[in-house]
Amino acid sequence: MTAPTLEIHLSDDDLTSALRADAGLGLTADPKWLPPKWFYDARGSELFEQITELPEYYPTRTERALLQRVVGDIARTARADVLVELGAGSAAKTRLLLTALTAEGPLKTYVPQDFSSSALRAAADQVAVEFPGLGVHGVVSDFTDTLHNLPGGDRRMIAFLGGTIGNLIPAERAEFLNSIHEVLEPGEQLLIGAGLVIDPAVLVPAYDDAAGVTAEFNRNVLLVLNNRLSADFVPEKFEHVAIWDAEREWIEMRLEATADMTVTVADLDLTVRFARGEQIRTEISAKFRIEGLKSELATAGFATENVWTDPEQRFAAVLAART
Ligand code: SAH
Ligand code: AVI
Repeated sequence: MTAPTLEIHLSDDDLTSALRADAGLGLTADPKWLPPKWFYDARGSELFEQITELPEYYPTRTERALLQRVVGDIARTARADVLVELGAGSAAKTRLLLTALTAEGPLKTYVPQDFSSSALRAAADQVAVEFPGLGVHGVVSDFTDTLHNLPGGDRRMIAFLGGTIGNLIPAERAEFLNSIHEVLEPGEQLLIGAGLVIDPAVLVPAYDDAAGVTAEFNRNVLLVLNNRLSADFVPEKFEHVAIWDAEREWIEMRLEATADMTVTVADLDLTVRFARGEQIRTEISAKFRIEGLKSELATAGFATENVWTDPEQRFAAVLAART
């Protein structure tokens, strides 16, 4: 086995200054908001892994079963020599794709990318052990920032699994797809795992589980602000809220102040006032319709080659080629 290599484009100082900028904007806005990438420090990444095991959280197990069924088909058309995975996290489901791509084709290198260096290191080490013939090169970076630091290859596939595409607001999503188009060569492929619009009676509990793990994950962003910017949020004073927005077809996670309070963000010299009931939007998780996704891909310069869904139409894997 060759030890995995790691490329870090986000130093601790970079993270702190990015959070300063985001918190300065989001906590002074009306309504208040924070970008979801700040959930994912080491604790947040672990909490996300716990979420994937919850009975209510259907996306991970649905996507896993779907990939199990279709990775052979994907690999046969792909012939990729490099697999780049954006927001790889623990890369648990990616093993299925790696197995098929190495069995069916010329895959030589796996490039997991993530914002969370702890998750990325663990994933890169684990994959290197399980796939000793594969080169593993991790990249710690922000996929909404630049994709230009991703390595080249003869024929690359970029995978973006888990439904994370839904965590981008529509304008960010369009920009993100354009930037993927910019870095890929014609014919190279993009594989997206996306959650579909389903019955809110199934959807909402997936984001508001009985054990309260998603609530902890949501509140973790306040601990990240406390740790990184010396803020004095008391997370227990915020209630987890998950709401289905039927018009925009996304789940919105919010944190609701349970009392009037004042929070200080010392590193920003900022005092933030909350009225009881006031909410901070911490995440959207958009759900898609296949035609809408295909059309967004076409607008960004991708031709959809194949779409697979699970039997209950909860999740889709979409394979598209850069035109
Ligand atoms: N792909 C995995 C993990 C999904 S969780 C799965 O399907 O289970 C979302 C992952 O995206 C986390 O690991 C998080 O750290 C990462 N992430 C979120 N925003 C990001 C950003 N802006 N840039 C890079 N990674 C990001
Ligand atoms: C990473 N992402 C796709 C998850 C989702 O379902 O939107 C994050 C998450 N938020 C709450 N639970 C899980």
